[in-house]
Amino acid sequence: MIGIIGGTGLTQLDGLEVLESKWFDTPYGEPSAALTFGSISGTKVVFIARHGDPHQIPPHKINYRANISALEQAGVTKILAVNAVGGIHASLGPAEVAIPDQIIDYTYGREHTIYDASSTELDHIDFTFPYSQSLRGLLIQAADETGVSILKSGTYGATQGPRLESAAEIKKYKLDGCDLVGMTGMPEAALAREFGIEYACLALSVNWAAGLSDSIITMDDIHLAIEQGMGKVHKILKAFLLA
Ligand code: HPA
Repeated sequence: MIGIIGGTGLTQLDGLEVLESKWFDTPYGEPSAALTFGSISGTKVVFIARHGDPHQIPPHKINYRANISALEQAGVTKILAVNAVGGIHASLGPAEVAIPDQIIDYTYGREHTIYDASSTELDHIDFTFPYSQSLRGLLIQAADETGVSILKSGTYGATQGPRLESAAEIKKYKLDGCDLVGMTGMPEAALAREFGIEYACLALSVNWAAGLSDSIITMDDIHLAIEQGMGKVHKILKAFLLA
């Protein structure tokens, strides 16, 4: 079954026919929200709101392990993660969409692995290609079918938040090779890999990253970009699920 993790601006899924909502207990504590089971265009999906429903959990406080564990318990083998991000790449202005293929992790102090002292036998997962190449391919195909133009690859810089970056930090991240920055991409992607679940990210740019436009970043501008861009995300998801 396909799991969808909704980020900022996506606490509910368009066109989801809800069958039931269910809270899961996990060895890692409580997930952000109850899982919503349903179908979109006839395809079964499970949805979870990453920041809770209503949106209230900041990126550094999200129980990423519990969220992935709950999805695994629900029988999810593939995860599509939707993330709001800041754009660094020239074609990632507000309301543009990217399907990243690489990650640089700048986060700290988060519970980032299931292989801690109290868990099962240690495994060092391979993370050379952090996202599922086959899921990415299907997402790109879905975007092509809908005519939504997207950035088809890029490096996701995962930042700690909840504050946005300084202009100098973005300059450095750009030099590092980042094309987009967001606060929730990690440790989520790595945990999915540890759980053996395929994972890909649909990133919606909601602002130019700090220092890349003439103005500072306001929440009003972010909300406007979410309004303008979330329709594209829904279109791509719908086409993906129909395929
Ligand atoms: N930086 C980090 N995370 C974000 C941004 C940003 O500019 N916009 C949305 N999430």
